[in-house]
Amino acid sequence: MTNTTHVNQARQIDWHDAAFDLTRGLAAYTGSDLVAGIANVIGKHPQADIGNAFNHKQVASKVWARQQLYDNLGPSYRRILVVGGWYGILPAMLFDDARFEIGRIVSCDIDPDVEIVAKALNRPFLERFDAMTADMYALDYAAQDADLVINTSCEHIADLRGWLALLPRGTRVLLQSNDYFSEPTHISCVPDLDAFRAQANLASEVFAGALKTKNYTRFMLIGSV
Ligand SMILES: C[S@@+](CC[C@H](N)C(=O)[O-])C[C@H]1O[C@@H](n2cnc3c(N)ncnc32)[C@H](O)[C@@H]1O
Repeated sequence: MTNTTHVNQARQIDWHDAAFDLTRGLAAYTGSDLVAGIANVIGKHPQADIGNAFNHKQVASKVWARQQLYDNLGPSYRRILVVGGWYGILPAMLFDDARFEIGRIVSCDIDPDVEIVAKALNRPFLERFDAMTADMYALDYAAQDADLVINTSCEHIADLRGWLALLPRGTRVLLQSNDYFSEPTHISCVPDLDAFRAQANLASEVFAGALKTKNYTRFMLIGSV
């Protein structure tokens, strides 16, 4: 190992400590429970790729989702189910927005490593939040009894129509996908908004839109199955 590698590793360790200190300071300064949750993740789960999950593009797509949800379906939800929910960023952002009245949000992901991180991120909201490890194709959606199902990971699942067919008829959904074909884990990208609409084939649609970012365009549909 070279001296340069040692120096770089030392810098990385320092940067992790600095990120923890900085986010804790930002949480204290802003009083934000969401930033406190991020500091908690950095402190307790240093292996989590939280910088990627909370980068400005991911945040922009979720701010967009939150605003369109508010504008099109309103502020009140009894129980929201988020599938492919990763580290639970969107639930934290919904809890963080005082305009919303939300009874409970449950985040489900097939990756067993992310449940504990989603719970750490949403620690300030734990009375109304839960995370579970499950395959979204294996859930009993009638038993879940959600009044909104969110899937912002449509580009990651092989059969969007097959998954939507598992939801009770009339279930309200918010779906996001993108045209970022070059990312290897994106197995189901769509070239444009019309292709996404055709792929989802929702029974009713209250919103369909596209959000251009530097490297790709994100698509969103809100409606019901
Ligand atoms: C990279 S993440 C989220 C990307 C998305 N654009 C976002 O920010 O919401 C995609 C997540 O989908 C999850 N996932 C993929 N297939 C799944 C399945 N069948 N059931 C549940 N989660 C799944 C992965 O484990 C991963 O955490």
